[in-house]
Amino acid sequence: MRKSSIFAISIFLLALCLTACDSGDIEEHGYSTASGGLTLRFRAQLSSQDDWEETGYGIVLAGFSDQSSYAVLQRPIPLASMNGEEMEMVVSNVSNSISTMELAVTNTLRKRIVTFRTVSLEAYKGRVDTIDIDLGRIDVGLSGFMQQGIFNQACIQCHGGNGRKAGTLDLTDGMALQQLIDVPSSQKPGYTRIVSGDAEGSLLRMILHEGGENLLNYNHTEVLSSQFKESLEDVKNLIDEWINSL
Ligand code: HEC
Repeated sequence: MRKSSIFAISIFLLALCLTACDSGDIEEHGYSTASGGLTLRFRAQLSSQDDWEETGYGIVLAGFSDQSSYAVLQRPIPLASMNGEEMEMVVSNVSNSISTMELAVTNTLRKRIVTFRTVSLEAYKGRVDTIDIDLGRIDVGLSGFMQQGIFNQACIQCHGGNGRKAGTLDLTDGMALQQLIDVPSSQKPGYTRIVSGDAEGSLLRMILHEGGENLLNYNHTEVLSSQFKESLEDVKNLIDEWINSL
């Protein structure tokens, strides 16, 4: 089935080329194809326990230029596709102004909150065939968002990433949840790292917010703002959503 359609497409392209050659307008044809932009076929196995739409955010495949954190184009991924099975999504007309395609969380204004995967389009410039990109298996639920979007990007350099476990806390993949959820603080007697279902009562949240500067020997209140300059409030909201969903 696939072979035969590839064959059909090849014949079609050959025919196109021959027509173009005959009429002597190769350049014009090449130009119109380039302005139509790239065609990308993404494959992935996505899973999510959470309905992002209820949070006011969405999981999307989105194209960004270098200049802005608002998506130039985006395709929402429906919850039904986040069932762990192989899914496929074709994005066409990806213009030259787009430098990266990202599997990301965006808000209703298409602003990027965090990114799960980034594909740079630099290497594909000028391609007229359909480009296949396999993103692999990704947890795009709130827990996946915390691990890939927050811990891996802003925390593991001190918490488990290079052998160092500040505050005896390891936030690397596979360790973070069991070390956090309903586990007493090692540094602050009477506090719990994360109280499931209670963001406000969780030490992790307190130390990241204003007022938490002196709770520990290391001030964490600037950790997120240096990493998520433009989406700080959204990131903080989603951390609350996550803790409250536990
Ligand atoms: C630059 C290093 C650094 C970074 C980055 C960092 N931390 Fe920490 N963290 C520490 C240190 C040091 C301690 C121990 C503080 C103490 O001894 O009072 C700590 C302690 C903690 C604790 C308390 C552990 C306990 O049992 O009391 C939590 C929770 C925590 N960090 C979460 C985070 C999170 C979440 C991030 C990312 C958003 C993060 N940290 C980023 C250095 C860091």
